Amino acid sequence: DTGKSGYDHFMLKEIHEQPRALRQCLRGRVSELDGDVTVPELGDIELERVHLVAAGTSYHAAVYGAQLLCDAGISAQAHYAHEYAISPPPIENATVVGVSQSGETADTLAATREARRLGAETLALTNTVGSTMARECDKAFYIRSGPEIGVAATKTFAGQQTALNLLAEAATPGAGDRDLVSALRDLPGNVQEILDESTAESVAEAYIDADSYFFIGRGLNFPVSLEGALKMKEISYEHAEGFAAGELKHGPLALVTANTPVFATVTGDGEYARKTIGNVKEVEARDAPVVAVTDGRSNVGRYADHVLDVPQTHPRVAAILANVQLQLVSYYTAAMLGRSIDKPRNLAKSVTVE
Ligand code: G6P
Repeated sequence: DTGKSGYDHFMLKEIHEQPRALRQCLRGRVSELDGDVTVPELGDIELERVHLVAAGTSYHAAVYGAQLLCDAGISAQAHYAHEYAISPPPIENATVVGVSQSGETADTLAATREARRLGAETLALTNTVGSTMARECDKAFYIRSGPEIGVAATKTFAGQQTALNLLAEAATPGAGDRDLVSALRDLPGNVQEILDESTAESVAEAYIDADSYFFIGRGLNFPVSLEGALKMKEISYEHAEGFAAGELKHGPLALVTANTPVFATVTGDGEYARKTIGNVKEVEARDAPVVAVTDGRSNVGRYADHVLDVPQTHPRVAAILANVQLQLVSYYTAAMLGRSIDKPRNLAKSVTVE
């Protein structure tokens, strides 16, 4: 054993470390007494306008985080760091948040440096204490996921999502969402439940000969779909794409066949769910197999060939849970194909050149 604690790969070990990593992220930051969120590193943070800059998986966390902040009434946008560094949008009153597991990604550092040069307040949201980004930004907010060895980010993505919830809460004192806070407290246990009961391995097996894998979702499940597809590409080398479910009919539907399974993440039973179920019916009519990742609040399961369950919880937290099921599907697909899971070809854990 080389530190894998009996797991075949670091990636699987790190997927299984998520309950502990998330407990660490929350520890001391959510009051046991009144549910208030306090993150001492953030001080009395006031956010008027937020630009989240990131690359890769961290960009997907940034897209998720921007929605949380907007829901909290704060104007927020996610940007690819490599675009932002060259052409930042108007920056007045903006806090620029670099989202980077390593804190060393050259593209993201270029963006936070450009933001500093233009006079913006900067915040590093990172896993790595003392990293270049943590040192250079005005403030650092650590996600406390512990070391991640597998090139494909797993527990750090869940940690970023969780920390972004804390950031949104900390930035709106008094307006806190009690249901969210209690859902965050239950999050590590809910992740454990998925790890104990997931049928992702049999889903991976069912579609091992697929031509392509598609992932669809709306709202907070859109970045989850992007991340589901990225994970699949990175470690299985199979073609995969994530789409905003509403975009399907505007192009990607032409790619859908009986050999392109569609992973639809549908949580809650609101308008997002209803509309995504409409998309599920559209792909079914083209003979595509459907895997629903769902909390069972809607009837999407009725239209699916397979269901991957997530416990019922707050919608923001549901998107963290759904991603865990997709991590497992990618992992088992890559394992069955015999890929180099922890060190995929052509990729590096941290890309320190632009
Ligand atoms: C590399 C890794 C990705 C990661 C990205 C951003 O490309 O292969 O897994 O998401 O860098 O890394 P960061 O450390 O900035 O989160």
